[in-house]
Amino acid sequence: VHMPKAVVVIFGATGDLAKRKLYPSIYRLYQNGKIGEEFAVVGVARRQWTNEVFRENVESSVRKAISCSEKLHDFTSHFYYHPFDVTNPSSYHDLRSLLNDLDGKYKTEGNRIFYLAMAPEFFGTIANSLKDYGLKDTGGWTRLVIEKPFGHDLASAKKLNEEIRAAFDEEQIYRIDHYLGKEMVQNIEVIRFANAIFEHLWNNRFISNIQITSSESLGVEERASYYEKSGALRDMVQNHMLQMVSLLAMEPPIKLTTEEIRSEKIKVLRALRPIKEEEVSKYFVRGQYGKGTVKGEKVKGYREETNVDEKSNTETFVAGKIMIDNYRWAGVPFYIRTGKRMAEKSTKIVVEFKDIPMNLYFKNKDENRPNLLIIHIQPDEGITLHLNAKKVRTGSIATPIKLSYNNNGIDGMNTPEAYEKLLYDCMLGDATNFTHWDEVALSWAYVDPISNAWAKENGDFPNYKAGSMGPKAADELLAKDGFHWWPVT
Ligand code: BG6
Repeated sequence: VHMPKAVVVIFGATGDLAKRKLYPSIYRLYQNGKIGEEFAVVGVARRQWTNEVFRENVESSVRKAISCSEKLHDFTSHFYYHPFDVTNPSSYHDLRSLLNDLDGKYKTEGNRIFYLAMAPEFFGTIANSLKDYGLKDTGGWTRLVIEKPFGHDLASAKKLNEEIRAAFDEEQIYRIDHYLGKEMVQNIEVIRFANAIFEHLWNNRFISNIQITSSESLGVEERASYYEKSGALRDMVQNHMLQMVSLLAMEPPIKLTTEEIRSEKIKVLRALRPIKEEEVSKYFVRGQYGKGTVKGEKVKGYREETNVDEKSNTETFVAGKIMIDNYRWAGVPFYIRTGKRMAEKSTKIVVEFKDIPMNLYFKNKDENRPNLLIIHIQPDEGITLHLNAKKVRTGSIATPIKLSYNNNGIDGMNTPEAYEKLLYDCMLGDATNFTHWDEVALSWAYVDPISNAWAKENGDFPNYKAGSMGPKAADELLAKDGFHWWPVT
């Protein structure tokens, strides 16, 4: 088995993402034997921590995320802390000698991952300083992992990209979209292209519409200072939702290589029907939660949350109708919706097939009972196919039946965290499940007119109750086309 060797440098080591996702993921890679002893992690942040304090923090974050009673000492002994000031040259000089020492000590052959998990305004400075101060000059490979947000519109994303590209080649840049690390998101491609019964029907002749819902029950939590400027469109649609759309809509790749798969996804994004500012309301709906009850608990409205403007115009919900103007998809709406403080935490894709030409088997002739293929992304992982079959002991009356496959059930163990897989891919040099610059650029180009239109006019907020499935207008969006959202449960 090929075991990657590397030093992973995490900028933002005291931050939330590092604690909640990165340390537990590295631990799982270690525990599962994906990485051996030839690795080290250097935590970089402003605070003046020692290695000991850092290691204690790593240990407690692993324990919190994974119920684990094993001794973590061997694992945390690979962790080092480096207090750091982004703009101070001596920070980079010191980091460089630390990394050189660790290369020798852990025999990592000069392989380095620089993981930027901190305030995006420093991404460019850090990337260039890494190059200028010689931290990329090693005998091995060096890669840059970048967390979202990658800019906050096309112009800022371009600027950021140019800064980074001055120091790293496109092949060395790994832009994270953690949805691409989810087991069932990766499964979309396999379900589509490894089955004879789906791919032939996967087009505008047989599919009437596709619905993607990614709902959250949590509110904005402690992230208001970020979220107020972002909103659901930038936070979820520009990246995760459009990535799922492109996986659902892409043509079969000719090979399973990074280049081929990403170029098929890029073609989908190029075919998105652009939305002009003045027609946004025809295609998109925004919402913001007011107070309500989520899972039996009374919660505040968005405008009452800490650090949120009491007249905030930030959307916490988006529903949209996305059209893909190509041969395969002309006329088939892809409906998406996502939001905070909705009824439940769930991500699901419903593929609705067209009705049969003549229906003799339903009692009520107007009854609409199309075949549905449901891809459950989370928390359940699996697929369900909704069919019609004969009702026992009746004439020829159809009754709905479901064929279900549940990932968790079959494997009998937790599927790996998205971050675990993505970190491992990065160590192996596989960028397939990271976003190419063209994908980022095309996604921003698509959402920019929507956010521009929304910035110009105050939304009629709050317009949905916490604990609901969003504003009424989100239902009307489908009703106009003769469809409705299929229940997510
Ligand atoms: C992140 C967003 O990218 O995705 C968060 O910034 C959101 O606001 C999260 O909560 C949802 O991810 P998941 O994996 O919990 O569905």
